[in-house]
Amino acid sequence: MEKYLIIFLFLYFLHTFASDTVNSDYDSFVQCFIENKIPKDQISSILYSPKNSSFTNVLQSHIRNRRFNVSTTPKPSTIITPTAESHVSAAVICSKKLKIQLKIRSGGHDFEGISYVSNQDFAIIDLFNFRTINISLEDQTAWVQSGVSLGELYYRIWEKSNLLGFPAGVCPTVGVGGHFSGGGYGNMLRKYGLSVDHIIDAIIVDAQGRVRDRKAMEEDLFWAIRGGGGGSFGVILAYKIQLVPVPATVTVFRVEKNANDNPVDSVFQYQQVIDKTDNDLFIRVLLQPVTINNTRRVRATFIGMFLGNSSRLLTITGSQFPELGLKTPDCKEMPWIGSVLFWANFDNSSSPTVLLKRTPDSVNFLKRKSDYVKTPIPKSGLEQLFKKLVEIGKVGLVFNSYGGIMSQIPESETPFPHRAGNIFKIQYSANWKEEGEEADKNYINQIRELYNFTEPFVSSNPREAYLNYRDLDIGITDNSRNSYEQGKVYGLKYFKGNFDRLVRVKTSVDPDNVFRNEQSIPVLPSLGRKV
Ligand SMILES: Cc1cc2nc3c(=O)[nH]c(=O)nc-3n(C[C@H](O)[C@H](O)[C@H](O)COP(=O)(O)OP(=O)(O)OC[C@H]3O[C@@H](n4cnc5c(N)ncnc54)[C@H](O)[C@@H]3O)c2cc1C
Ligand SMILES: *[C@@H]1O[C@H](CO)[C@@H](O)[C@H](O)[C@H]1NC(C)=O
Ligand SMILES: *[C@@H]1O[C@H](CO)[C@@H](O)[C@H](O)[C@H]1NC(C)=O
Ligand SMILES: *[C@@H]1O[C@H](CO)[C@@H](O)[C@H](O)[C@H]1NC(C)=O
Ligand SMILES: *[C@@H]1O[C@H](CO)[C@@H](O)[C@H](O)[C@H]1NC(C)=O
Ligand SMILES: *[C@@H]1O[C@H](CO)[C@@H](O)[C@H](O)[C@H]1NC(C)=O
Ligand SMILES: *[C@@H]1O[C@H](CO)[C@@H](O)[C@H](O)[C@H]1NC(C)=O
Ligand SMILES: *[C@@H]1O[C@H](CO)[C@@H](O)[C@H](O)[C@H]1NC(C)=O
Repeated sequence: MEKYLIIFLFLYFLHTFASDTVNSDYDSFVQCFIENKIPKDQISSILYSPKNSSFTNVLQSHIRNRRFNVSTTPKPSTIITPTAESHVSAAVICSKKLKIQLKIRSGGHDFEGISYVSNQDFAIIDLFNFRTINISLEDQTAWVQSGVSLGELYYRIWEKSNLLGFPAGVCPTVGVGGHFSGGGYGNMLRKYGLSVDHIIDAIIVDAQGRVRDRKAMEEDLFWAIRGGGGGSFGVILAYKIQLVPVPATVTVFRVEKNANDNPVDSVFQYQQVIDKTDNDLFIRVLLQPVTINNTRRVRATFIGMFLGNSSRLLTITGSQFPELGLKTPDCKEMPWIGSVLFWANFDNSSSPTVLLKRTPDSVNFLKRKSDYVKTPIPKSGLEQLFKKLVEIGKVGLVFNSYGGIMSQIPESETPFPHRAGNIFKIQYSANWKEEGEEADKNYINQIRELYNFTEPFVSSNPREAYLNYRDLDIGITDNSRNSYEQGKVYGLKYFKGNFDRLVRVKTSVDPDNVFRNEQSIPVLPSLGRKV
């Protein structure tokens, strides 16, 4: 009897072991790294399987959307945390050889979690160890590795000079790798354009595992990774950027308009002036349903950035935007680094070292969508929109002003096509704290309902969207035979006329579709090879 039990247990463990594909993917990576001449002691410190005690910590440390931090979120078989270029090359070569999808993560802020979630067997290459910033004051450039956060970049620039800055996002924990490769905008958008408009070189590990700088890669590939999304083309290790001058004094403000301040009138006038005003001025508007005096209403908050002093700002707003009602006490003058703190919702008396913190204080459940507005929404439309926001209840809108230099850069200059003709971009924003599928469904449904409602007011054919506000609702690909047709659906919205060029670059540099995800650039069906 005992003998049978032992045989049974033996067979049982054998079975468990054999069917443990998760573990065998990890073992295959280890084996393949050895074949690629990565020393064993390095392998044992950069490859994690789910059995490693720190696997969960490493996985969770760069999740920025709680929707993808639940027990049902699919987990990778392997996490690779390279500390050298050779590790990245091996990761690419091995994922290709083993036919395991490789997800690339830098700061982990992707709104749909596609840098660390997949519905098939996958591994993650996480670049958080690629954290160097080298600034050259002489030519006002910097080499910035992909795992750097925007806060770290702003801090290091400020350490060297308070008269230099960089046009990129306002949230300090966002990663350079995803942000720059997808466009990158912030409150200097109208003056200096996007992050990608100031990238002058890059280092990428391509589909063959080769390390390439701008000179060594096709110029078309260098074009593609400035707005086309890095995840389709290779693992970007670093970008070289041109810094921009900022004045010694900038001015910020925050002005709230509640129901008895005619917020509709201010938003209406905003649309008439904001794309044509002085390039030094950028204004974001938050529209949020709030309860005031027991009544649900929409509050409009105008947050401003001005690259100059308050007296010049007041002259501009006084003549062009009187409905804003901006007054001297609303204006706060400070050095540029102070405005970085202000926009990141820190007290501007905080030490700039808070920008070095890579982990936000709290992480919510999130869903985002985006739109572009090319003709002012009529007053009656704004009134309906405000009513709808109150009716829906928990979704907010953020308007970000366009125009300025954005209107002067041709659409084909970079893959990011949303240039001339836009007054502002809309960000749809749902944040929640309740756990569970019911809550997810409820909030996601609300944001979709609002998106349906705004259709008559926004761009059409295509209804444009911003890649970095990742939204899987607008189309996905399963990377099968139909990927070109599938890719066209979201590709035209994100890239307009640049989509086909991105497909040609992709087909040329990665015909085997090694770098693939739910919204990657597809390979041309007639030329590509099947994975
Ligand atoms: C709180 C918050 C605030 C934000 N604020 C702004 C803002 O002000 N302005 C703005 O423009 N956007 C903003 N975003 C959006 C942000 O720009 C994108 O989510 C961006 O892609 C994040 O980059 P990441 O490296 O942190 O993300 P990740 O999730 O790591 O990556 C995002 C995408 O890029 C790919 N990728 C990442 N690193 C690499 C690499 N090294 N090589 C190749 N591919 C790579 C990933 O595979 C994934 O597809 C914000 C997002 C959040 C969550
Ligand atoms: C993961 O676990 C294996 C087996 O115990 C070990 O050899 C390896 O060093 C661990 N990896 C890391 C990164 O800790
Ligand atoms: C993810 O969930 C774990 C608990 O399961 C928690 O400790 C961690 O802080 C969470 N991380 C984020 C970013 O929400
Ligand atoms: C930064 O400079 C150091 C020292 O010169 C160099 O080793 C490193 O490769 C540079 N890093 C980047 C990202 O260029
Ligand atoms: C709320 O009601 C008080 C008293 O009627 C009024 O003074 C105040 O302006 C109201 N606030 C708003 C924002 O409507
Ligand atoms: C504000 O800036 C303008 C233009 O740069 C300058 O002429 C003016 O003197 C400044 N005003 C103050 C009070 O500093
Ligand atoms: C903070 O803002 C005040 C004006 O509101 C300004 O005087 C001060 O210089 C700012 N501090 C920093 C660090 O920017
Ligand atoms: C939005 O519109 C689409 C297409 O018409 C429809 O399928 C969907 O059900 C609508 N969603 C909501 C939440 O109203």
